[in-house]
Amino acid sequence: MSEAIRINKTTAPKPKPKDAELGFGQIFTDHMFLADFQEEKGWYDPRVEPYGPIALDPAAAVLHYAQSIFDGLKAFRGVDGKVRLFRPQKHVERMQSSARRLCIPPLDPAFALQSITTLVGIDRDWVPRMMGTSLYIRPTIIASEAFLGVRPAKSYLYFLILSPVGAYYPEGMAPVKILVVDKFVRAVDGGMGGAKTAGNYAASLYASEEAKHAGFTQVLWLDGVHRKYIDEVGTMNIMVKIGDEIVTPPLTGTILPGVTRDSALHLMRRWGLRVSERQISIDEVTEAHQRGRLEEVWGTGTAAVISPVGELSYQGQRMIINGGKIGPLTQRLYDAIVGIQYGQSPDPEGWTVEV
Ligand SMILES: Cc1ncc(COP(=O)(O)O)c(C=O)c1O
Repeated sequence: MSEAIRINKTTAPKPKPKDAELGFGQIFTDHMFLADFQEEKGWYDPRVEPYGPIALDPAAAVLHYAQSIFDGLKAFRGVDGKVRLFRPQKHVERMQSSARRLCIPPLDPAFALQSITTLVGIDRDWVPRMMGTSLYIRPTIIASEAFLGVRPAKSYLYFLILSPVGAYYPEGMAPVKILVVDKFVRAVDGGMGGAKTAGNYAASLYASEEAKHAGFTQVLWLDGVHRKYIDEVGTMNIMVKIGDEIVTPPLTGTILPGVTRDSALHLMRRWGLRVSERQISIDEVTEAHQRGRLEEVWGTGTAAVISPVGELSYQGQRMIINGGKIGPLTQRLYDAIVGIQYGQSPDPEGWTVEV
């Protein structure tokens, strides 16, 4: 898109919340970024507007057939006061591949990145200061055409909103209890599990609610074909350490290609650890636990960065991992990634982008 970005700033800025009182995704900043797409024009009219409701025709395709994609990344206020985005190019790339899977016209990656830096720049005072807090960034594309036929829409809306969020672990990183589900699946081979699209999250709710009622934090999804291989944990990728091998499921289209997953794999390879991206069955995990070789299990994702798993429950059998405590590699990964995000340690790979 070569058009200049129109900027219409709010005349009524909102009061900012206190850093210590922030939760997740409830408060939004003063502005949002928008752009439209029409088949004959392509993407057009990029603009920043005061944050507020958007008008949609009740027949808009997204409301009926869920033709939509999104992504989620963060901006951090470093210990040096600078505001940094963590690997935004990687998130923009993923948005493009999600868009292709949903037959949505992708945004030009340079434009998508510019929309993020522009909006975060305008609302930079909303990036909280307390350690562990951040500004969550949610780019979304929805099918806006008013048409009830089932086919890719001819018009779309891109919007980008920002939400200051609290520390994921206000009292320090804490291991979670996970239920391995074999009654429901999140994605199947050939499906859209690898895309960040609304339907995948709707598909996950029922099992997550059941797990929560049973006292678990989240579910571990098994593959949709054999219900045997581990896929993802809640909205995170999963990694297990068995002896000296760290295993994580491969990117075969059923799991989301996590940016934190990629960062963790990169760091562990740099540290000289043995890392395998391969299928791993829940039976292999159970067996490793019985032999005392299941040393650590953790999830990776933008929200928590690293989430230690202290307990896995499968078919009524409870596996306590590392005595329910945070393992050394789990902690090392967390410290390394957080250190880069907050500008406390060097960023040799150039993962951060200053705003
Ligand atoms: C289903 C799912 N898997 C994995 C992830 C982790 O991805 P990332 O590390 O890019 O946040 C997320 C969160 O974005 C997710 O929603």
